[in-house]
This record gives sequence, C-alpha cells and structure tokens, in this order.
Amino acid sequence: MSAQGQTKRITVPQIAERKGATPIVALTAYTAPMATLVDAHADLILVGDSLGMVVHGLPSTLGVTLEMMILHGQAVMRGSSRAAVVIDMPFGSYEESPEQAFRNSARVMAETGCGAVKLEGGARMAPTIRFLVDRGIPVMAHVGLTPQSTNVMGGFKTQGRDPASWDAHVADAVAVAEAGAFSVVVEGVMEGLADRITDAVAVPTIGIGASARCDGQILVLDDMLGLSGRVPRFVQKFGDLAPRADQAIAAYAAAVRDRSFPGATQVYR
Ligand code: KIV
Repeated sequence: MSAQGQTKRITVPQIAERKGATPIVALTAYTAPMATLVDAHADLILVGDSLGMVVHGLPSTLGVTLEMMILHGQAVMRGSSRAAVVIDMPFGSYEESPEQAFRNSARVMAETGCGAVKLEGGARMAPTIRFLVDRGIPVMAHVGLTPQSTNVMGGFKTQGRDPASWDAHVADAVAVAEAGAFSVVVEGVMEGLADRITDAVAVPTIGIGASARCDGQILVLDDMLGLSGRVPRFVQKFGDLAPRADQAIAAYAAAVRDRSFPGATQVYR
C-alpha cells in the first residue's frame, strides 16, 4: 500500500500534547488479533513485558528477553494501524549503560517499526533517557511500583504509603520528564502521590493503580477482560471472559465426544 493510502498512526508528540486534555486510553496487547480489537478504541498500545506472565506463564517479568519483545511487537504492529505502539525494554537490556540501552532500543525500533520504547526507573535512568531521546528514540518512563525491581522492593508493594517518601517519588518523575520522556507511567502508588506527580510533570502521566486524575490510564488487557487468574486488587474488570471461554471449550469437547461435530453436512465425502 502506498504511504498515502495508510491510516495515520497517533504519534508520540500527539500523545505528549494530551497533558491536561482528553484522557489517554492505553491498554496492553501482545498479539495481532488482540491489537486489532484494542486499536479500534485506544490511543496507545503497550507491548508490556507483562507478556512474560500473561502469555508465557513466567513467574515474573525478569525472564523476558529482547527477542520475545520484538516478536510480540511485530505482531502488534501488524494487527494495529491507528494507535501509537510502545514496546517495553525487558530487564537487563538497558540498565547497564546508555550505550547498551541505545543499542537494544534501536533494535526494537528498527525490527518492529514501533513508535517508542518504555523503560522502568526514576532519576537513576534520567541520563539514559536523555541519551536515547537525543538519538531519536522516544521514551515512555515508568515510576512508582516498577515490577522489574520487585526483588529490591520486597514484592509488589504500593509505593508512597509513607508520605515522607513522596518527595523522592515526585523527584523521580520530574527527572525522567525533564530528561525528555514523552509520558510517564505511574504504577501502584497512593492516590495523593499520583496527583502530586501529575501536577509536577509537564508530560502526561498514565496511571495504573494510581489516580483517576492521571492524564491517562492503562491496564493489562487480559486482566481487564477477566482472562487472567490472579489480578492486582486495583484492576477493575470490564469483562468476565474466562468463564465464557471455558463454556465454549466445554461445548466443543462435548460435541467431539458425542460425535455431533463436525455436522454431517460439513464433512467432505
Ligand atoms: O508490562 C506492562 O504491562 C506494564 C504496564 C502494566 C504498565 O508495564
């Protein structure tokens, strides 16, 4: 298809412009068919490293590789045409140095055609974010509860329970925004802290278990659809698809066993 005939994707600057405006609708997707469903409604699709748990049954995001992210990123790009697509940098692929982060982020961008990458961490990642943005790689930051650091944090713990820690969290968000991040995911923090972060940074905040006052919201698609087993307490389910999928599979199994499938008219003789 010619470049003229293609649907225009939402760009990173268009997402950045949504600060304080119409809330940004963001969801994860990991496969082409799910990306097509999400693309019809969302402004931004995140190929999150949560795919390690959701799709691959891993115990955490730590075992996710760059190759996995690229493969799922390519599928999501094929399945979508409108939403901005952001791909998570997996644990170990960007923390060592700005150069390592550039090498691996450039590979993700080049091999998938996505619009941006996301990486976890506050002030400590600011120099890396600046390095990437200066070299043409848009970055979404991720602060608060950062799942790749749960071994250091002592588990999936809501951040900012002690108000004395709020200044440090706000400073993290300000540092990544000032380093050039075009938006900041704020995960698993006390509502008042999320509000303070949203007021303090000049780019949109995208909340997950944070506050309705964030500039946008994101959820893991499978959690929101009711397809996952255990989900975090803050996840509001907008569907309950697991029992319906179970019913359909059970109906199929029964049809096979009682030989009512396939119908006689469908069989080639
Ligand atoms: O990996 C992921 O899906 C994420 C979102 C939950 C923000 O980082």
